[in-house]
This record gives sequence, structure tokens and C-alpha cells, in this order.
Amino acid sequence: MNVYHTRNSLKVALQEVRLRGETIGFVPTMGALHDGHLSLVKQALEQTDRVVVSIFVNPIQFNNAADLAEYPSMLDEDINLLSEFENILIFAPSSSEIYPENDAFKVIDLEGMDAVLEGEFRPGHFKGVVHVVNNLFKIVEPDKAFFGRKDFQQVAIIQKMVAVLGSVVEIVPCDTKRSESGLALSSRNLRLSNDEKEAALIIFQTLQFIRSLQPHKTPNEAQQAAVDFFNKGELKLEYLAIVDSQSLKELTDEWSAEATCCIAAHCGEVRLIDNMQF
Ligand code: PAF
Repeated sequence: MNVYHTRNSLKVALQEVRLRGETIGFVPTMGALHDGHLSLVKQALEQTDRVVVSIFVNPIQFNNAADLAEYPSMLDEDINLLSEFENILIFAPSSSEIYPENDAFKVIDLEGMDAVLEGEFRPGHFKGVVHVVNNLFKIVEPDKAFFGRKDFQQVAIIQKMVAVLGSVVEIVPCDTKRSESGLALSSRNLRLSNDEKEAALIIFQTLQFIRSLQPHKTPNEAQQAAVDFFNKGELKLEYLAIVDSQSLKELTDEWSAEATCCIAAHCGEVRLIDNMQF
């Protein structure tokens, strides 16, 4: 397995890939890999010749020091999981490789997309995500980058970043992987007990409930009914919003062609997010 820890060593390896005329896919991760990540890797391998998987827990996208401290880190296990694939390059850099002293990153105007939903509850989170993805793109220079739809707002913001920068990287959103009972796969699930995993199913059940309401109710009515439904469970709701998938603006009276319901909630100590597009 090819594991690179410095930007220069990865760039040299990728130069050879390009000289052979091969395309490069990119799956950025923060490690603690699960089947959701592996399905991104599989899709990347179907669509490109060589795939870079980065493993870097990005400190600047955490607005809560405890959350960062609790974030699982298991590089050896991650490398082991990826060793079942061919044509993978693992990039596991230190912070100084991603944020060098001469970091030329310039803040991008996201026109408020970073201030709503997750952005409201995790101030600065998307600035950190955009910064790290921008710096990673500069190192990897992929043809295509693969992101999970579970982080719906992240996908919308990365698409916006690419449009604003006029970048040629194609963003490929990939469907959320779920457990058989419907829990969206997430590295954070490692911190849930079995009882908490059971309780967390209320998130998926609420999303399905909204889907069933959509033909009969306005978004506002559906949102209120869904909050009542959700609150019958044991989780602590942070937000439940129905938004337009492109603008992220909240829908109240009418459904737009692409509406998404986003939920964030605390299950014990663990903050979970999920969404469903209608
Ligand atoms: O989705 C994630 O795991 C992270 O936000 C990302 C895209 C790897 C940036 O740190």
C-alpha cells in the first residue's frame, strides 16, 4: 500500500500517474473509515484510474475542542481497510503539510450558504472545510472528487467553492450508506452504544415520515409535524429544516423541485446529522 505523508512525495507519485495518461480520483476523509467511505472509494475507482484517499483530521473545522479530542483516529486500521483495493494512494499528512507557513488560501464568499443549518450551530465549520478541501485540491489536483451526500450542506458548499474558483475538479456526490435499519453510517457511530444506535433510528424514521407527508402538507406543516414526531424519541433535536437543495433557503409554503430535509441531533454525547432529498 502506498502511503504518503508529505505533499512533495505525493505530488511526485501523481506526476508519474499523469505522465501515464491516467485520471485521478480523490476521496478526502478524516479517517475512521467505514463502509460509507469504502463505497466512495469504490465509485472513485469505477470512474478514475488512480484514487487518492486523504486521511487528515482537520482541526480548523471543529468549533468544539472536546469534539476534536473525541474524534476517532486509527490510521493503521484505515490503511488495512484500504489494502483490499488496488490503485490507491493514501495521503496521511501532518498539519504543517496541509497548512504551510506560505499558505496562499484566500477566503471565499459563500454568499451565506455557510451561515445556515450546520453553519448556524457550528460557526466557522465550513470555513475550515473549504480551506482544507481547497488546499487538498491544490496538492492532489484530481479530475474528480467524491463526497458523501450525508454531508449534504458540505457537498453544496464544495460545489459552490469550485464554481467560484472556476476549478476544473468535477464534484461527484455519492448516496448515503445506511445500516440495515436505516442509521446513516458515520465515524461518530463508533461512539454510540447499541441502545443509542437503536434510539438514533428516530432520525431516519422522521425523514421517512416527512416523505410520507410531502404530498399533503406544506413544508411548514410537515416541519412542525416532523418535530413532534421526532420529539417522541429520546434524542435532543438541534434543528430540523426543509430547504431548497441548491440555495439552502428554508421552504415554508411551497415545495421546490428539489427539497431536502436536514436534521441534526444529539444522541447522548454524540452529535449526528442526516438528510433526505424529496
Ligand atoms: O467530510 C469529511 O470527512 C470532511 O469534512 C472532509 C471533507 C474530509 C474535510 O476535512
